[in-house]
Amino acid sequence: MNETQPRAEQAAVWVIGCLGMLGRELTETLADAGWPCVGTDRECDIGDASALRAFVTGRRIGWIVNAAAYTAVDRAEDDPDQARRLNAQGAAHCAMIATTCGARLIHLSTDYVFDGTGRRPYVEDDPVCPIGVYAQTKAEGERLVLEACPGAIILRTAWLYGRHGGNFVHTMLRLMRERERIQVVADQLGTPTRVTSLCAVILALITRFPDASGIYHVTDGGETTWYEFASAIAEEGRRMGLVPGACRIEPCATAAYPTRARRPAYSVLSKDKITALLGVAPMPWREGLVEYLKRMQDGTH
Ligand SMILES: NC(=O)c1ccc[n+]([C@@H]2O[C@H](COP(=O)([O-])OP(=O)(O)OC[C@H]3O[C@@H](n4cnc5c(N)ncnc54)[C@H](OP(=O)(O)O)[C@@H]3O)[C@@H](O)[C@H]2O)c1
Repeated sequence: MNETQPRAEQAAVWVIGCLGMLGRELTETLADAGWPCVGTDRECDIGDASALRAFVTGRRIGWIVNAAAYTAVDRAEDDPDQARRLNAQGAAHCAMIATTCGARLIHLSTDYVFDGTGRRPYVEDDPVCPIGVYAQTKAEGERLVLEACPGAIILRTAWLYGRHGGNFVHTMLRLMRERERIQVVADQLGTPTRVTSLCAVILALITRFPDASGIYHVTDGGETTWYEFASAIAEEGRRMGLVPGACRIEPCATAAYPTRARRPAYSVLSKDKITALLGVAPMPWREGLVEYLKRMQDGTH
């Protein structure tokens, strides 16, 4: 468990899944902003409601951010019970505990709740149609969260990369150093999103918009394919000296690299609703990538 010293007058933010990619950076963001913060991960199992109840006993919790999940999309296909235990029942437990202790809840969800047959950015009210176990259990989690805690905020995000944990940017940079040629799928469209951007939105909600509720889509701006994203990593990475040599990035079709779980072909999320609430549009994904790589380069991650 991570804990910063609570200010006497302020109830703490409880980050569930505090050792994950989002959870770790969010805990740092909140602490830097002066929010008292407590964090739990696997030792306080979200699949076990009594563990969550025991944790809140005797604490003043003002906000709960549920960043814990079963996120291994392909593995979930062979492990549906465990995926459902975390992404559906675990989410419901977080919502019940928020209601019981009078805390506001921010629950994290995914672009994968859509099947990807759309041709324009998905809005929050579009009907969900998940394909695959991970997606189905996350969609079920959303429904259960809103049932148990109607005032909850659900943030659907996508294609995250951040300084803590394995992600597409780190994998590409490594492969570009190791190989002469990499094939990357060019027929899936979405929006790469810096964890830092998502943390900034969560901080803004907690600090400035505590009365918000409902579903919001939160990603960086614009849309691209994994192939174009990889090409941008190569271009910017070379410019900054992070990628030596001239590894070729080649487009390929999803069908050439079948995965256990099918991915949505188009999972761009509309940012209009969150932009209207915050009064500021998200940073274009490529600018986010450049900032991210610069921080890697100068060691300020
Ligand atoms: N990453 C993406 O591209 C992406 C895209 C869209 C939406 N999201 C959503 O964003 C949220 C955060 O994602 P992330 O990438 O930060 O996930 P992550 O890195 O996998 O972090 C999840 C954390 O939850 C922990 N955890 C696992 N089982 C638990 C349990 N029973 N009780 C409590 N904690 C448990 C994990 O521990 P272990 O590591 O030991 O399992 C891990 O520390 C998730 O809801 C995810 O569905 C992510």
